[in-house]
Amino acid sequence: MKCLELFAGIGGFSAAFKNQNIICAVDINEQAARVYRSNFEHPFLIAEIASLSVAWFQENSADLWWMSPPCTPFTRRGRSAGLEDPRSSALKHLIGIVPQVLPNLICIENVVGFERSTAFDHVCREWGKVGYHIDWTIACPTLLGWPNLRPRFYAIASLERNRTLSRMYEKQARVLLSDFLDASNDEIESLRLENRLANQYEKAIDRVQATNVGAVTACFTAAYGKSVIRSGSYLDTGMGYRRFSPREVCRLLGFEDDFVLPSELSRRQLWHLLGNSLSIPVIRAVFGGALN
Ligand SMILES: C[S@@+](CC[C@H](N)C(=O)[O-])C[C@H]1O[C@@H](n2cnc3c(N)ncnc32)[C@H](O)[C@@H]1O
Repeated sequence: MKCLELFAGIGGFSAAFKNQNIICAVDINEQAARVYRSNFEHPFLIAEIASLSVAWFQENSADLWWMSPPCTPFTRRGRSAGLEDPRSSALKHLIGIVPQVLPNLICIENVVGFERSTAFDHVCREWGKVGYHIDWTIACPTLLGWPNLRPRFYAIASLERNRTLSRMYEKQARVLLSDFLDASNDEIESLRLENRLANQYEKAIDRVQATNVGAVTACFTAAYGKSVIRSGSYLDTGMGYRRFSPREVCRLLGFEDDFVLPSELSRRQLWHLLGNSLSIPVIRAVFGGALN
């Protein structure tokens, strides 16, 4: 299928669906472009999506538009301003463009809460008027036996009635957190959470032990490495806590080990980009059937 990967970031959609024909990926972030281009050969346009015209979408005619618009406007932390938030300008623009271009399929990923937003209400109303059928669900990697929390909203809008999301997840044999660890001894030292922060946030730190069979890591967000709490888990080493390395977070998101994390990007930059990305096994499970 010919696809546009909008809000492409580091290319979670491309990594999950390697057999799709991505005719163009678009994102405004140059660091995301650097990671994307290190991994995929598809054209990548660094652009403000709100500046792309109907003519651009007609010239780049695709069967499927993938959209992972910024989540912050739909979180309490981001003040839940939804479509009124300036960070939603590109989404607002796309809601208006779709009825003029009519791609066959549109897939959306966002945070839980999006389903209650005026943005989703607007999507359902405006796209419903021109014949789209919309199906949505909430899914989390833990449903697949994956040791990472990342509940997310997923939707598909289709001009054909039979394109729906899957809710039958094949639970994999329990994957152990220890299987995702990779940091070398030197790296472990540099990932260590400073005693001062460990003491300050002792009660609030989300900690996991690799040897605990039921260990599940919290959702890694773009703030990991910057904010100690509510941004992801720390590994309890028995001698303190350490952060998960970008490679470990990348594995927990389901990217394969040959996914390149360019060495010129700092750890903080990589955590930020990974925290914005997708759970690969979940989007395969949820959208796989509809995209065949
Ligand atoms: C939630 S992230 C999606 C990440 C992506 N799914 C991935 O796998 O990495 C949202 C992305 O939208 C991009 N973005 C935000 N506003 C944008 C805009 N107005 N135009 C283009 N890209 C934008 C951000 O740079 C970020 O990479």
